[in-house]
Amino acid sequence: MQVNIETLISKEEVEKRIQEMADELSERYAGKYLKLVGILKGSVFFLTELAKRMTIPITMDFISISSYGNSMESSGILKFNKDLDDPIEGEDVLVVEDILDTGRTLSYVLKIFETRKPASLAVVTLLDKPSRRLVNVDLLMAGFSIEDRFVVGYGLDYAQQYRNLPYIGVIE
Ligand code: IMP
Ligand code: MG
Repeated sequence: MQVNIETLISKEEVEKRIQEMADELSERYAGKYLKLVGILKGSVFFLTELAKRMTIPITMDFISISSYGNSMESSGILKFNKDLDDPIEGEDVLVVEDILDTGRTLSYVLKIFETRKPASLAVVTLLDKPSRRLVNVDLLMAGFSIEDRFVVGYGLDYAQQYRNLPYIGVIE
């Protein structure tokens, strides 16, 4: 497939913002052990770049969720494919997501995690599309707030492609 991808947020801008977020998180969670929980696969690039820049002790765990639907629009019907490896009871947990769109995925995940009694539970996302929200999700921090456009790169895919682009782009 021959497509043109227009840069929306450059590699330099993304990395600068991730550094700021890492600094803020290291300060906020100073003195604590933080567990970063990534939602596979989209959050992997953001999570590792964030983790590399954090100066507090962290651990990582991952879940996998799929939503039925086509490549650009999810149906809202979610399926848990892979759960966390370890319990989170009593832990400071930070869910790391690539993009907050309708909010359905994160609200579903947070509901499940809350029942497991973590010491704290918060969410950071690289991108936020506030105009698309259907379910409210409390965010600790968002990297960038963007308009309602379908974006790829930095972990985000279109039909599983383009996740490895080192910038955020829009398919033309
Ligand atoms: P939500 O449940 O509607 O908030 O959707 C979140 C998920 O939808 C993200 O984790 C992405 O996998 C996917 N998604 C939403 N918007 C985009 C986009 O612009 N590009 C790529 N994936 C997206
Ligand atoms: Mg995703």
